[in-house]
Amino acid sequence: MTTYLVRGARVVDGDPTDLLVRDGVVAEAGSKLTGGAGAEVIDADGLVALPGLVDLHTHLREPGREDAETVESGSRAAALGGYTAVCAMANTSPVADTAGVVEQVWRLGRTAGLVDVQPIGAVTVGLRGEQLAELGAMADSAARVRIFSDDGHCVADPRLMRRALEYVRAFDGVIAQHAEEPRLTDGAQMHEGIESARLGLPGWPAVAEEAIIARDVLLAEHVGARLHVCHVSTAGSVEILRWAKARGIAVTAEVTPHHLMLTDTLAGGYDPVFKVNPPLRTAADVDALRSALVDGVVDVVATDHAPHATQDKECEWPYARPGMVGLETALSVVWQAVGDRLGWAGVAERMSRAPARIAGLAEHGHDPAPGRAATFTLVDPAARWTVEPAELASRSRNTPYAGMELPVRVVATFLRGEPTVLDGKAMR
Ligand code: DOR
Repeated sequence: MTTYLVRGARVVDGDPTDLLVRDGVVAEAGSKLTGGAGAEVIDADGLVALPGLVDLHTHLREPGREDAETVESGSRAAALGGYTAVCAMANTSPVADTAGVVEQVWRLGRTAGLVDVQPIGAVTVGLRGEQLAELGAMADSAARVRIFSDDGHCVADPRLMRRALEYVRAFDGVIAQHAEEPRLTDGAQMHEGIESARLGLPGWPAVAEEAIIARDVLLAEHVGARLHVCHVSTAGSVEILRWAKARGIAVTAEVTPHHLMLTDTLAGGYDPVFKVNPPLRTAADVDALRSALVDGVVDVVATDHAPHATQDKECEWPYARPGMVGLETALSVVWQAVGDRLGWAGVAERMSRAPARIAGLAEHGHDPAPGRAATFTLVDPAARWTVEPAELASRSRNTPYAGMELPVRVVATFLRGEPTVLDGKAMR
């Protein structure tokens, strides 16, 4: 294993430091370190070292839609975005609702070796919302599943949701809910409001999300279980979460980079690259989400990286699949949206430490420090770059940021002492 001497990086908000990376760990940190003969020197002057980012919400599409993404291509996109671990959503084909499928995804992640791929198991068989999946067998499998989600679909039946919350308590699991009351979003195409009325598109009202979150925090309190809310998108959801947290309910929540940056007015061009579920909301919602992320009512940023093949995305708005790719742009978008308010310490907390804690990924979410696994990312805070869809490592091109200039660039990523990205390029 090559020894690396990373020279002069600021670890989060600290002073410039040298980091000696040897045998998978940070062997030493300090000034004027010498790596000894054979150490490869990385000039990190002006760069910031962050704990490797952890994504709680990634669609890797394998098995089943390898034309849109594979575990390997998604892992590469993740590493390039500064991630060292991603949680792979269960809405694959077949659905990840058995120990066999989650173990397959976990093994594919190990083979790719670019990030730790932690499978999420489905809550219900086939994501159909009728019958609990084999949660215990997935938890006991080699993949050691701890997060369960029917994401893409809501666990709408309150009795089933209650049973799922009760079941996962046994192994400190968590149910990650896609909060969408389906009876209120039938046929919905975009956020319900002035823009949907103007465009004549059926609306997805904020209350469809808020009603489920309100119900589920009460269920989590009632049974004493952990709830995680996926992709929170409305100001009203933030208020319910604030109330639940003040009451001591064990609820955590994520926001996506796109819900921190983009609004429903983008639907006006009918470009389906802006179609996503939950939909882009209003500027007032964006403001509330930004503040909630800064004050901690929303715990983490999660990408909801949702790659789609061209034929599924580049068609008329009503027929296009919802979702956007996001792994390679997440850090830049978050910095653009709230960097001045979060600072690097806040970014490290919301994009690495908190998601690692929620997912139970003990090896992740730690600042590079002596004795710790060398699992970190080096970012250039002064860089600016223009998003070129054709240059993305993801197999899909559905980025809403095409042509946009963004701040901050990932220069290198290390996973247990091995570089997965160097000089901004993936190592495999
Ligand atoms: O926009 C979305 N795309 N939202 C979801 O909940 C699912 C995801 C997907 O799988 O494409």
